[in-house]
Amino acid sequence: MKVLDNPRAAQQVCQSWREDGLRVGFTATMGALHDGHLSLLKRAISENDRTCASIFVNPLQFDDPEDLDAYPIDMAGDLEILRQHGCDMVFSGTMDTFFPEADNRDMIRRVDPGPCASGLEGAYRPRFFDGVATIVDRLFRTVGDCKAYFGEKDFQQTLVVKHLSNQLKGTGIDIEIAVCPTIRSKYGLALSSRNQQLGAANIDIANRIYQALNSTRLAWRSSVRDQSTLSKILRTALEHPQISVDYAEIRNPDDWNSSKNRMDSAIALVAARIGGVRLIDNLRLDQPEGS
Ligand code: PAF
Repeated sequence: MKVLDNPRAAQQVCQSWREDGLRVGFTATMGALHDGHLSLLKRAISENDRTCASIFVNPLQFDDPEDLDAYPIDMAGDLEILRQHGCDMVFSGTMDTFFPEADNRDMIRRVDPGPCASGLEGAYRPRFFDGVATIVDRLFRTVGDCKAYFGEKDFQQTLVVKHLSNQLKGTGIDIEIAVCPTIRSKYGLALSSRNQQLGAANIDIANRIYQALNSTRLAWRSSVRDQSTLSKILRTALEHPQISVDYAEIRNPDDWNSSKNRMDSAIALVAARIGGVRLIDNLRLDQPEGS
């Protein structure tokens, strides 16, 4: 596995693969890899001739410096995992090498994350999606034409990266986005690098997020289609003295900004803080288990 600490070198490797007629798969990460990332990587490896991953904890998407400082980092462990699973190349970089044109952070041109970025995560973390869009745009320009794999756990982020790939088509860069199912622990907790920050007792409480999503899906299956009733079921199921809910909403996944009361397709989305750790999760209500 090639390990590169410079996006320019990564760009050249991806370019040479394509010149050899090879299809390129890509997974963007902030490291602290877990089975959720590995599911993306395995799918990328199975569908492409060469696969690369990026590891970069992007300061632009953190509003809170303490949250950035607390973000888990394990570069040596991550490289070992990627090597063992057959990744062909991994790259990282610094703010200077990703944004060489900017003398300081304030000079970086922020990329518009598109209309799906408002509300939910966008409302609670005001600069989050433009930070994500700015780095993902740079990562996509580094890797070039490829199939890029993202997890459905970050559902709103998948809408943002689809918007970016549409924007990049106009510049001749062809990024196909694949959205992969959320990987869960056996109790349903969505895998996340942040789970490492939960203690054992809080993991039990965090499992309630999935239970709440599942209760809402059961209501959908018993033919409840009214958005406010479904929201109420979700919020009630999340009530617990140690769960502080940022949002618990039902949206139409195909028509994100619509606000019809009667849903014909639906996704339940939650962000909650447990013991100071902020977790997000979601569940399609209109799809069978495991899809
Ligand atoms: O989902 C993530 O890990 C990050 O938001 C991403 C896409 C790697 C951009 O920093």
